[in-house]
Amino acid sequence: MTDHTRFAGHGVLVTGAARGIGAAVARRLAQEGGRVLVTDQDLPEAERTAASLRQQDLIAEALACDIADRASVEAAVAHAVAAFGSLDVLVNCAAHCTPDVPLFEDDPDDAWARDLDVTLTGAYRCCRAALPHLAASGRGAIVGIGSVNGLQDFGNHAYSAAKAGLGSLTRTLAGHAAPRGVRVNLVVPGTVRTSAWDGRDDELAALRAFYPLGRVGEPEDIAAAVAFLASRDAAWITGTTLVVDGGLTAVNTGFHLAVRRP
Ligand SMILES: NC(=O)c1ccc[n+]([C@@H]2O[C@H](COP(=O)([O-])OP(=O)(O)OC[C@H]3O[C@@H](n4cnc5c(N)ncnc54)[C@H](O)[C@@H]3O)[C@@H](O)[C@H]2O)c1
Repeated sequence: MTDHTRFAGHGVLVTGAARGIGAAVARRLAQEGGRVLVTDQDLPEAERTAASLRQQDLIAEALACDIADRASVEAAVAHAVAAFGSLDVLVNCAAHCTPDVPLFEDDPDDAWARDLDVTLTGAYRCCRAALPHLAASGRGAIVGIGSVNGLQDFGNHAYSAAKAGLGSLTRTLAGHAAPRGVRVNLVVPGTVRTSAWDGRDDELAALRAFYPLGRVGEPEDIAAAVAFLASRDAAWITGTTLVVDGGLTAVNTGFHLAVRRP
């Protein structure tokens, strides 16, 4: 159920919010009263997302922000503070994933560097720029978006290493930020139906079999978990990783298929 007050008056910045999970997070936090800066490297799509929120009488603005660029990130944080009066919630959603080449030894340097620079260092840049403002808010919260790729092997070496790194950054930053009144947590999704899977409907359908709860995720499944961790309902939760994956990593589906029980 949506609580329309949990983020009343909160300034919210979401990266990678033009589409997919980021857009669902922006919508959910706006529906709960947040004033949301929809940032993305794709400004036209970010503007469309923010406009659709405003059409529902929600508070949202769009801004171009490339999380691989320190100045761009700092400008986005400054914009949120100026526009909303405070920055209370940062959601790090933008990421980059380069598909693996068939042979590991043929991996190009730039693919590894790009995935790490956007997915891990990009989130770090956003946390660094936002932290003083989140500390000033008195109710600051950071929620990162990891991936089950950071927990188990699902391919994509660099992306997976970056996502695993986000778990560590979440814990070390939680320790640093707790005395400053800021909570830091990570949501770890399994497969979620977004544009990242466009044109791969057959694969998505086949993946259902690996999910004990019988389906892949929808962006709203992840947005609900983000909203919880960012809200006062999670006031005593920091440094944690919340896996939102329909049971994928907890339940050994292959084992259960092989072992017949009465
Ligand atoms: N979809 C899934 O199955 C899945 C599973 C696990 C984790 N995730 C994670 O969820 C998050 C969102 O994924 P999604 O499926 O919604 O992706 P998506 O491709 O639908 O959207 C990602 C958005 O990030 C933006 N972006 C990419 N690089 C950027 C940069 N340098 N600066 C700013 N914006 C940038 C893109 O323009 C895009 O709008 C990512 O962190 C992803 O790793 C997704």
